[in-house]
Amino acid sequence: MNLLVTGCYGQLGRELQRLASNNFEHQWFFTDVDSLDITDPDAVERCFSEHRIGVCINCAAYTAVDKAEDEPDIAARVNTLAPQILAEACLRHDALLVHLSTDYVFDGNGLSPYQVDDPVNPQSVYGSTKAEGESLIRESGCKHVIVRTAWLYSSTGKNFVKTMLNLGDTRPEINVVNDQRGCPTWAHDLAQAIVTLIDHYGTEPVYETFHFTNEGNITWYDFACAIMEIGGKHCKVNPITTDQFPSKAHRPAYSVLDLNKIKTYTGMEIPFWRDSLVKCIEEIIKNI
Ligand SMILES: NC(=O)c1ccc[n+]([C@@H]2O[C@H](COP(=O)([O-])OP(=O)(O)OC[C@H]3O[C@@H](n4cnc5c(N)ncnc54)[C@H](OP(=O)(O)O)[C@@H]3O)[C@@H](O)[C@H]2O)c1
Repeated sequence: MNLLVTGCYGQLGRELQRLASNNFEHQWFFTDVDSLDITDPDAVERCFSEHRIGVCINCAAYTAVDKAEDEPDIAARVNTLAPQILAEACLRHDALLVHLSTDYVFDGNGLSPYQVDDPVNPQSVYGSTKAEGESLIRESGCKHVIVRTAWLYSSTGKNFVKTMLNLGDTRPEINVVNDQRGCPTWAHDLAQAIVTLIDHYGTEPVYETFHFTNEGNITWYDFACAIMEIGGKHCKVNPITTDQFPSKAHRPAYSVLDLNKIKTYTGMEIPFWRDSLVKCIEEIIKNI
């Protein structure tokens, strides 16, 4: 099968490139905004036709959550309009669209893990544009698998794990919020889950939404403590409340995603967050 990956220089895109170097079952086409701007319908159509795309994995997104509050139009073009463009191309070419979405589609007021079918109620521009992108894909009628994930990190790119490791080298102590609970996700595990989903469904008609994160849930404070400990940093982490660390965009207090659907449908086993964090930090240290 011919697989198109958009946004391939992002965290998830780079992990898919790594997996593809050992996966000869598929023909992979990796693109980012310099080679395929997914907001350009003509460019998307040309790419699908030229490469006879059977699966499009949309890793491209506008992910700057706070900046999106000031740039709602740009965020909407990438997170809402572009998924619709990709969905229409998939429909024309009978291709499967694998699209990534976020825990931020929920309001975060829940007390138990969010189920796939729970109503969305985004509280930020980023969350709203992603939720609308999901809806347009479903309405398009194209074959699709939407995967909502959360708290993504990898050894490349800008993310919480790398920020904490850097602060661990330069600060004696830091404050981290302890009243927002979620599920960290190593981009490497997410990339593997995506390949599992593609191999599971093949060319079948599929119209499903899944949640994928690592197993377990913690607060950002717990996450920071674990990063300092595993990374061998002697930096004190102080727990604070969200009120003490104001940010432009609203963050959900509770954004734990229920993983039962993806496990039941595919039989996949999902690594525990701490085991994956250890592996990622080992990689970061090795690459320094
Ligand atoms: N990061 C998280 O914590 C998180 C949490 C939940 C869900 N997700 C979702 O998971 C997916 C992958 O996230 P990620 O962290 O890997 O994202 P990322 O690192 O921000 O990568 C996104 C990539 O898309 C590119 N891009 C932006 N606009 C584009 C366009 N018009 N055409 C083509 N490419 C474009 C970006 O290029 P530039 O860098 O040049 O803009 C970047 O290379 C996204 O759908 C995101 O919403 C992420």
